[in-house]
Amino acid sequence: MPRKPLLIAHCRQLLTLRGSRPEASGPRRGRALGELGLIRDGAVLIAGGRIEAIGPTRRVERHRLARRAEKVNARDYIVLPGFVDSHSHLIFPASRAGEYEQRIAGVSYEEIARRGGGILSTVRSLRRATGSQLAPQARRWLAQFAAHGTTTLECKSGYGLDLKSEIKILEVIRRLSREGPVELVATFLGAHVVPPEYKRRPDRYVELLIRRMIPTVASRNLAEFCDVFCDRGAFTPAQARLILTSARVCGMDPRLHAEQLARTGGARLAAELHAVSADHLELISRADIKRLAASPTICTLLPGAVFHLGKSTYAPARALIEAGAAVALATDFNPGTSPTVSMPMILSLACTQMRMSPAEAIVAATLNGAHALRRAERLGSLEAGKQADLAAFALCDYREIPYYFGTNLCRWTLKRGRVIYDADGQIPR
Ligand code: NIG
Ligand code: FE
Repeated sequence: MPRKPLLIAHCRQLLTLRGSRPEASGPRRGRALGELGLIRDGAVLIAGGRIEAIGPTRRVERHRLARRAEKVNARDYIVLPGFVDSHSHLIFPASRAGEYEQRIAGVSYEEIARRGGGILSTVRSLRRATGSQLAPQARRWLAQFAAHGTTTLECKSGYGLDLKSEIKILEVIRRLSREGPVELVATFLGAHVVPPEYKRRPDRYVELLIRRMIPTVASRNLAEFCDVFCDRGAFTPAQARLILTSARVCGMDPRLHAEQLARTGGARLAAELHAVSADHLELISRADIKRLAASPTICTLLPGAVFHLGKSTYAPARALIEAGAAVALATDFNPGTSPTVSMPMILSLACTQMRMSPAEAIVAATLNGAHALRRAERLGSLEAGKQADLAAFALCDYREIPYYFGTNLCRWTLKRGRVIYDADGQIPR
């Protein structure tokens, strides 16, 4: 039986993200990054998983479908697009809490990696795990993502580093994406670090990636994007260029981890390749800020990693925004540098540590995240025709989303118009 339409009415603040130039279709840059399209006492009418109408409650109530719709009074809520978290490493077997304690005692992330810990310790345990062992934990995390307002999540492989294990990860991602509740977007990160068996011949591993792993992943349609950790201790820009160029030939669009641990040239490469996104960028140079600002590449900032590593150099968000770069925000959820599922916490860090305004942070975490995943025609803002992916916070003002840090105030989340989280039992199922 087709479901009844759903009318979410009287939202205290409805953030549509409609901009002052609604005809512009690219990611938000400069002043437009802070445009929330805020409607007080706003309403969203949902039918068939999509937004049928949106605007002031008085007007939406007059829509022909509104009369027979199930109604929700959202008087106590701020309603906004579900978060589009465009960078995560969701599939891993266990935390690395021991390394966390070592780092607190003064051993650096890179030193731990040199001793064989870090990413490689997750690789060792992941290779031993089966897909059916990996899926339940990821499933529990996905419920937590939904509970914090996230409706779409990019997920990278990269803890397998051999064909069989990488495919195992990507198949878990595919299975969980079909299952829901959160829509997943798969990225192949076979070039995370050089696996131990290729330690002394990294170029042979690059060759394996290009000759065998990338073509196989692409032909099985297991990933939409290809990422490289281009940094000290991982891959050089020259290697990254080879890998991403052949990924593109196979139909996977490039993205890059760039300038996180050292300034190695990843940002420049991203701009040159017109990568879909360049992520991290804590150590980006002035010249590369200009290069990325002039490119279509989205600059995805991951302040959770800086926070969790106990560092103080955050990415220069203000300089990027002022130069005209398209900035997005994501969790980078992973066991080594950023074990958080909370986009609201990422917004708090973006505001206080990178001086983004609450409005800029919200657009970066929704619409620009959707652009970073090439899904902005369907996701990331609330407009008639777009998918009904919504998050609601029990607050009086949208600025309170980053302001009240450390408490989850998301109360319900809808994916394609269906409830995926409802703390108040308010939404008809
Ligand atoms: O984005 N920098 C590389 N990859 C992850 C960390 C992965 C890990 O430590 O397990 C990141 O920070
Ligand atoms: Fe990452």
